[in-house]
Amino acid sequence: MIDKIERLFQEIKDIHASNAEELEALRIKYLSKKGEINALMTDFRNVAADQKREVGMRLNELKQQVQEKIAVLKQSFEAKDNGTSHLDLTRTAYPIAFGTRHPLSIVKNQIIDIFNRLGFTIATGPEIEDDWHVFSSMNFAKDHPARDMQDTFFIESNPDEISKNILLRTHTSSVQAREMEVRKPPIRVICPGRVYRNEAISYRAHAFFHQVEGLYVDKNVSFADLKQVLLLFAQEMFGPDTRIRLRPSYFPFTEPSAEMDISCNICGGAGCAFCKGTGWVEILGCGMVDPNVFEANGIDSHVYSGYAFGMGVERIANLKYRVNDLRLFSENDIRFLKEFQPAY
Ligand code: PHE
Repeated sequence: MIDKIERLFQEIKDIHASNAEELEALRIKYLSKKGEINALMTDFRNVAADQKREVGMRLNELKQQVQEKIAVLKQSFEAKDNGTSHLDLTRTAYPIAFGTRHPLSIVKNQIIDIFNRLGFTIATGPEIEDDWHVFSSMNFAKDHPARDMQDTFFIESNPDEISKNILLRTHTSSVQAREMEVRKPPIRVICPGRVYRNEAISYRAHAFFHQVEGLYVDKNVSFADLKQVLLLFAQEMFGPDTRIRLRPSYFPFTEPSAEMDISCNICGGAGCAFCKGTGWVEILGCGMVDPNVFEANGIDSHVYSGYAFGMGVERIANLKYRVNDLRLFSENDIRFLKEFQPAY
């Protein structure tokens, strides 16, 4: 009897089943009422009393091993079943919810695209800047209010040499400074990017916003060139009937300076509540680069002239989409974001 038990131990070492029927056959062969184990149990009665203990233990071990082996085989089937039989290759795909482009990205891309077509290339620079690139090289007087804590987020102040102060850039003119530093004219760049100002957050002001600034430096660049480029931009952005108006203004880095209005894109210039009855809405600042800026950045102002302009992406987006609360742009409310279907 003990020989038979040992032989079965050997046998079950390499039992296999490649499907559920084969497995059931194994179960019947070993574990059913008429199976091998039960037959051994019956024979066990005839084992001599002095061997009963040893044979009984071995028989129980065998029974356990067979049960385990069959359970393991069963599990491997079930795992395979889960992997295959529930896979329906003919089922249609789940609809995937695509995101939409952020309205500010749509508008920014559109601005970039218009200026790209006019030969402007993109330049970028750091958001954490030094005073030199944001203010000093841009001809801001030492006591200019924009340097004040009220407007600028300072990171490190350097009382002995303010041009070494470290701060968050308040405009992307700093990128223009960096371009002039490393390039020789002609320079024709636009500088899109995020800027920071220390403002209380409300529907009309935010502590950060986005700008696209432009710079063109070459021989004989005139104010007429600037005006023509901006007219083209306005008409591409707001429609072919758009008119522009330039009002004298002041920026430290341009002389002369101007602010540009477009004919109100809601009433077409007739006057409405949106343009407060004037027929015009302001969209950007511009001017001829101040000779001091050229000199500070290593460009000979007797040889070269240039123009610069700068606009807020949020402002353009507000006019285009009539979003009247700036905060919506940074709240990530999906219901708001889904309203904008880009052409880009
Ligand atoms: N840097 C100005 C601003 O942030 C915009 C500007 C750029 C105005 C270039 C004139 C010329 O407000």
